[in-house]
Amino acid sequence: MQDTLNILFVGDVVGKPGMEVLRHLLPGLLLKFRIDFCLVNGENVDGGKGISPKLFEEMRTLGVDVVTGGNHSLYRDKILPVMEESPSLLRPFNYPSGTPGYGSGVFDLKLRDRVAVLNLQGRAFMPLTDCPFQTGREEMKRLSTYTKTVLVDFHAEATAEKMAFARYVDGLCSAVIGTHTHVQTADEMILPGGTAYMTDVGMTGAHSGVIGLDTENAIHRFLYVRHGKQATLAKEDLRLSAVLLEIETQTGRTLRIERLQLSP
Ligand SMILES: [Fe+2]
Ligand SMILES: [Fe+2]
Repeated sequence: MQDTLNILFVGDVVGKPGMEVLRHLLPGLLLKFRIDFCLVNGENVDGGKGISPKLFEEMRTLGVDVVTGGNHSLYRDKILPVMEESPSLLRPFNYPSGTPGYGSGVFDLKLRDRVAVLNLQGRAFMPLTDCPFQTGREEMKRLSTYTKTVLVDFHAEATAEKMAFARYVDGLCSAVIGTHTHVQTADEMILPGGTAYMTDVGMTGAHSGVIGLDTENAIHRFLYVRHGKQATLAKEDLRLSAVLLEIETQTGRTLRIERLQLSP
């Protein structure tokens, strides 16, 4: 077993611009930071909503170990059979039983190391789901019987919900990293019990519009309740948003957390 693991967590990849920046930057980052395990949130990769089997495969080919999701994970019908078959494509764990797919997994690495990933969805200003706090904590305890390195993608709108959850599970997992708002926060920290926390890792895609949508379309949505003729994505100012974690394998504690935002 290695003493420490280097983890790269990349935030919501949005549409074609997001894939373009991922293709450009990810392989180099995996080498530069000697990444042992990479997870990417892919709930918006297919035109801004959902994920296709082809794009999931491409992410895996680029070196992504696990693709996590959120409220858009189940948007495309074609992905449902893949979700049933592929433990490395996760949707939030706290969906009602009977929902296709997996919400958590344990993954074997080289040298007998293992990493567990748990995907959760918040309930404040989000569609109704089971309680992420209670179900999440129980699942985390189960996962930690396989490995001390347990990573959480907490997909939620409200800062306080994400922060409260991280403090609730401090010491039971290695990191609680937020996704969904598409805006990177500058609050990365390691809590007293050794759990790393960051409210939102941010978006991978075009930053020239409004959280990935093109400006005109986003304004239209607020003025008239619905999207314009076609929900189009922003195209300029490409950036990859991510966080780097160094985790002690014996204890599962995070030793170092570093926020990244890079342009091709
Ligand atoms: Fe998203
Ligand atoms: Fe989302």
